[in-house]
Amino acid sequence: MTRKRVAVLISGRGSNMAALIEAAKDKSYPAEIAVVISNRPDAGGLLVAKAADILTEVVDHTKAGKDRAQFENGVQAVLEKHRIDLVCLAGFMRLLTPEFVKKWQWRILNIHPALLPAFKGLDTHRRALEANARIHGATVHFVVPEMDAGPIIAQAAVHVLSGDSAEILAARVLKAEHRIYPLALKLVAEGRVRVTDGRCLIDGVPTPGAESLTPEPP
Ligand code: GRF
Repeated sequence: MTRKRVAVLISGRGSNMAALIEAAKDKSYPAEIAVVISNRPDAGGLLVAKAADILTEVVDHTKAGKDRAQFENGVQAVLEKHRIDLVCLAGFMRLLTPEFVKKWQWRILNIHPALLPAFKGLDTHRRALEANARIHGATVHFVVPEMDAGPIIAQAAVHVLSGDSAEILAARVLKAEHRIYPLALKLVAEGRVRVTDGRCLIDGVPTPGAESLTPEPP
């Protein structure tokens, strides 16, 4: 089996990146983390990646001024240099242009801290609490030009408990994120995910397996 070469794009602490690195340590995992790219030179995740002996690159968006295409040309050059097959966004805080997304169609994954299509955008945990949601969670999806709108690969649910603050809920969701991102990448790297009419079929069916859908016990 040839392992897919993956670039993880980060902007911050990189705990999802770390979960992907951990999963890929297993030689039977179908993907290897070839490089971690940050748009911020001070992202904490860069140190975590280096400590795990993963190559890192910085493409500083502030150096590209307001020109998103110029920034993306820098990212594209790094992806080509490392012969990347798949891109995982993991707390990457830049919007990508439709041109870039199309070039990488069905080869860019993102993790979002909510059960999409609910709570797109930022501040998802506070908004879930304000909405009195009983169930919250995380979603891994393919990236499309519209934000947080691409075909869903995997989701995990967690209970919202009385007394939860946004921080407590975020920590519970983050644990679920670390579980489903490696699972979703595995499915994609194994070529088991096909997009048809805007939705993902896994092994030809619309659900990725019960283990990624079951709420964690409270
Ligand atoms: C995660 O909650 C992820 O879902 C969101 O940004 C956060 C990044 O956290 N897109 P980390 O950098 O992976 O720890």
